[in-house]
Amino acid sequence: MPESSSAIESTLVENRVFEPNAATVAAARIGGMDAYHALCAEAEQDFEGFWARLARAGLVWHKPFTEVLDESNKPFYKWFQDGELNASANCLDRHMGTPTEHKTAIIFEADDGAVTKVTYKELLAKVSQLANALKAMGVQKGDRVVIYMPMTVEGVVAMQACARIGATHSVVFGGFSAKALQERIQDAGAVAVITANYQMRGGKELPLKAIVDEGLALGGCDSIKNVVVFQRTASACNMVAGRDVLMHEVMAAQSSECAPVMVGAEHPLFILYTSGSTGKPKGVQHSTAGYLLWAKQTMDWTFDLKDNDVFWCTADIGWVTGHSYVAYGPLAAGATQIVFEGVPTFPHAGRFWQTIEKHRCTIFYTAPTAIRSLIKAAETDAKVHPKNWDLTSLRILGSVGEPINPEAWMWYYRNIGGERCPVVDTFWQTETGGHMITPLPGATPLVPGSCTLALPGIITAVVDEMGNDVPNGQGGILVVKKPWPSMIRTIWGDPQRFKKSYFPEELKGYYLAGDGAVRSIDRGYFRITGRIDDVLNVSGHRMGTMEIESALVGKTDLVAEAAVVGRPDELTGEAIVAFVVLKRPVPTGDEAKALATELRNWVAKEIGPIAKPKEIRFGENLPKTRSGKIMRRLLRSLAKGEAVTQDTSTLENPHILEQLSKSN
Ligand code: PRX
Repeated sequence: MPESSSAIESTLVENRVFEPNAATVAAARIGGMDAYHALCAEAEQDFEGFWARLARAGLVWHKPFTEVLDESNKPFYKWFQDGELNASANCLDRHMGTPTEHKTAIIFEADDGAVTKVTYKELLAKVSQLANALKAMGVQKGDRVVIYMPMTVEGVVAMQACARIGATHSVVFGGFSAKALQERIQDAGAVAVITANYQMRGGKELPLKAIVDEGLALGGCDSIKNVVVFQRTASACNMVAGRDVLMHEVMAAQSSECAPVMVGAEHPLFILYTSGSTGKPKGVQHSTAGYLLWAKQTMDWTFDLKDNDVFWCTADIGWVTGHSYVAYGPLAAGATQIVFEGVPTFPHAGRFWQTIEKHRCTIFYTAPTAIRSLIKAAETDAKVHPKNWDLTSLRILGSVGEPINPEAWMWYYRNIGGERCPVVDTFWQTETGGHMITPLPGATPLVPGSCTLALPGIITAVVDEMGNDVPNGQGGILVVKKPWPSMIRTIWGDPQRFKKSYFPEELKGYYLAGDGAVRSIDRGYFRITGRIDDVLNVSGHRMGTMEIESALVGKTDLVAEAAVVGRPDELTGEAIVAFVVLKRPVPTGDEAKALATELRNWVAKEIGPIAKPKEIRFGENLPKTRSGKIMRRLLRSLAKGEAVTQDTSTLENPHILEQLSKSN
């Protein structure tokens, strides 16, 4: 169970409500709350019938399913399991012979502003060529392929090509280190890596292939037979004869037709590693049919996607948001989408707004951290204020990845949405596959800072530690009471951990999200109060405290012990603070600064720059109980700079609180 639910606050002071305007309601797929409630009622009355109807309408089946939900081996639920389909065929082939065939699938906006457009037909040809090339290398249905790519058309092509031949992909975010990459390759037992020579970010050419080489050289990756290298830039990179091939060369040798390999509905489409409560990242395994159904359905419901929309999700394909709302959902729904390679602040902090104007973007989906940093930039430099660009093409705004504070919500609503566009604050997780709790643009009255209500068919609740519902207004644990098609199927190679992490016995078989939540008294709206486990959310990126701790203590020549906690941060949501005991006297002054820098760089090397602690404090020990347990609550108070009000009578070594209360 989570360490403490006392961390869950239960105040809700937000009174502003924004009703959807009549025009949006009239045009929406789910127009008005009655339509929303009707769908919820349908799911309640005939749960399996509801999902079967959506699955039949939303997906193209090679072999129709006859069974909807198999609950015989809880919590290893199976959905539509005797059906057969292919995910790539559901994203591409389904549009051939329809007007979507010649529609732009991807508007690629490169880091330097260059634009390339690809139609659905062209995308299918590219995917087929790469799929054929992978097959020619011997990659087969069920094999795992690691993708370590920048945000490019080819990144999406790589994912789709794997899906086309039934290979299970595992995308590793391009900001992860060689070591993190190696660990994921090993855990997945991957047979190939698809990467790029370099990636372009903020005008800089950063190596990717060199990191793959470094990762493979760390050892234990004998399963890898080939490395496919996309040449993003003209610069040469090291190529290992007999192992490494250039993507454009192997593709050119292949036909642009490739029959999709049909797979069972439960076939693992992908594994995506994410942080949990222990040091080792979890390989979240998703299915083909259930996952894809929800990625598409939420495009239709949450974003109310229309044929002439220009959709833009700014997330990287290395995260789940980039899977569901870049690589799969928009394509399955036949959308035109922007794929953006760069960073929001290059060449200036108005880049997002400029890009919206440039491509007449209609639906824009980003993270609160990006919004907060762009607010700050706009406030300090009028030249990058959104008012400099024409944003009237926008009709829906979305937020994802972390709680959005009401101030940032209001700024987004006013300055980007012109008080015209609903803001859909979508709560979900790597494990949920797609949106869970979110407003619907043509139905739900909006309350800043609240993700409002669960989607139809998604049975969420706030409960106490025994799984009993708590009244509205009272904080508790967020759970999902019934399975849903896009849920995590297992943790790759560790079914026991899957059961233990997500379906703890005390919770009556409910899915434990790992977040605290409170529902408003008046409307029953959900507000997420943050993680209740040892997971941090830094700039919308999930980081395990234990993961960072094990990286720190891995520096065995220097570090004896480490504890990592989160501290609220105005810009990044949470910031990482590490308390470190060295194998030498407590350093001060310049020595402390130099050692902190050394350790931060070490963590970047072990995990990736996103895991670097913002602050490192040194002490001769950590606050522990007499039984030797680290008192994390105390450390959280110290990190925040709060006076310690907790009971410290059980503390073995109270004097070190003084030492750890100061920054070095
Ligand atoms: O704490 C919640 C937060 O992000 C966690 C999931 O992180 P990850 O698996 O990396 O997926 C992020 C993208 C879906 C959740 O447990 N979170 C995500 N969206 C929201 C959120 N917290 C509050 N409001 C949200 N809209």
